[in-house]
Amino acid sequence: MEVVRDPKHARNVISDLQRRGRTVGMVPTMGFLHAGHGALIDAAEEECDEVVVTIFVNPTQFGPQEDLTRYPRDLERDLSLIESRGAQWVFVPDVSQMYPSGTEETSTIVVPSRRLTERLCGEFRPGHFSGVATIVTKLFALWQPQFAYFGLKDFQQTAVIKAMVRDLMMPVEIRTVATIREPDGLALSSRNVYLSPAERHQARAISGAMQAAWEVAQRADAVPVDVISTARRSLAASPDLVLQYLELVDEETLEPAPDLSRSTVLAVAVWLGATRLIDNVALRGTAPLAAVLQAHGESP
Ligand code: PAF
Repeated sequence: MEVVRDPKHARNVISDLQRRGRTVGMVPTMGFLHAGHGALIDAAEEECDEVVVTIFVNPTQFGPQEDLTRYPRDLERDLSLIESRGAQWVFVPDVSQMYPSGTEETSTIVVPSRRLTERLCGEFRPGHFSGVATIVTKLFALWQPQFAYFGLKDFQQTAVIKAMVRDLMMPVEIRTVATIREPDGLALSSRNVYLSPAERHQARAISGAMQAAWEVAQRADAVPVDVISTARRSLAASPDLVLQYLELVDEETLEPAPDLSRSTVLAVAVWLGATRLIDNVALRGTAPLAAVLQAHGESP
């Protein structure tokens, strides 16, 4: 495994890989890796000759009041996880290299589809998805991967990136990988480390609400209001969870779903103390707790 820090060196590496006809898969991350990132690397390894994992805490996707400075970092641990998963390349640039014209108005940015970013996380994190789209575009431009892998926990992010790739005709295929969960259902996130033991205990209610809503959605006569009110009731049982949004949307357009007949996703964001957590469930997909059981090799 080689750690590449300089974008100029990345150019040489990618030219050589292309000359040798190697298929390149990219796993973009902000570091502090967990088993969810491990699953993305595994998926890339299965499909590609060469896998590059990028580690870059991207300042432009954090709002002024957000956790950029305290975002968890542990490069040594990340490198050993990546090595153990068999990826060949790790790209760890610094901010001045990725933003040669600065991170403010002086720099070129990518503005993703307004329709996809005006609700859910986009409503509460203005500029966030522009920051994501900008850095992902730069990483794609530099490494020119044929495939790139993103986790479905950030379901709106995957919709935004897929649309960006389609609209800007980027020659990369986006692959999505199911959310990896703790045994009690909590979706893995680098931000889970912020939770106190008491908050961690209460955080179980988030996937519990997704599970309860999923079960209601399986009934033949279920309508959106049943699903949403079930999840809302389930979240309300944990008094420290402060709901930011709970929405039932179409998986592709992210518009509110009028019924449960199409691909609908229930998405939620909550505050638990100073930590913001998100989760979602595709109502026609696998239930959150079934996903945990499958991941741990148990039968439901
Ligand atoms: O999902 C993340 O970790 C980040 O948003 C990403 C895609 C690496 C861009 O900084």
